[in-house]
Amino acid sequence: MKCFSLYGRDNHRCLAFGQDPSRSKNLIDTNQMVVVDEGVALLLDPGGVEIFPHVIAALTREVAIDTVHHIFISHQDPDTGSSLALWRRVCPSTVKIYLSWMWTGFVSHYDGEANFTAIPDQGMEVTVGRSRLRILPAHYLHSPGNFHVYDPKARILFSGDVGAALLPDERREDIFVRDFTRHTQYMDGFHRRWMGSPKARDALDCHGLPVADRHPRPPAWPFVQRR
Ligand SMILES: [Fe+2]
Repeated sequence: MKCFSLYGRDNHRCLAFGQDPSRSKNLIDTNQMVVVDEGVALLLDPGGVEIFPHVIAALTREVAIDTVHHIFISHQDPDTGSSLALWRRVCPSTVKIYLSWMWTGFVSHYDGEANFTAIPDQGMEVTVGRSRLRILPAHYLHSPGNFHVYDPKARILFSGDVGAALLPDERREDIFVRDFTRHTQYMDGFHRRWMGSPKARDALDCHGLPVADRHPRPPAWPFVQRR
């Protein structure tokens, strides 16, 4: 599993883990993200149970596991959080797990002993180190109870499956989208079938790639602002 640095300045880091060349071809590809501020880490969409060994091996090369005090799960799909029970075994016992109130009972089928912090429909803030990150409502994009996370310090919106794209292996050489117009061909199928909202579907990160801000995009398109 590869690690990509999205941001790093003043004890604040954003990392992406993904594009594992050893991943089973049966598994949809996903990105696992980590925000670290002042030695405290938030893990976003930790991924499915099948990839847990690869994610934790890559993550602990960059971040001490006992600093992971927060886990965020954007929605209920197994590729976002079916590994939850395994993460709770290795993270501090006080780790907080953020998930839409809609899905706590469903995701408990992955981990019946997890103690969730239920996110209300309007979203909430979470303090990570000395940073305050915003959990933003993104319902029906693509799940009916769906949230994104905005990191104001790094100016990164972690947009979950809104940026989803199904890329062929030969297009996985980079974590960033360099040509958005060309990239939309890989987003099209996912957005036509897996977006609950027709508006989102027609408008055309955890399966897709970060989109840097210098590329053309629709207004308010999720993106990573690179400096
Ligand atoms: Fe999903």
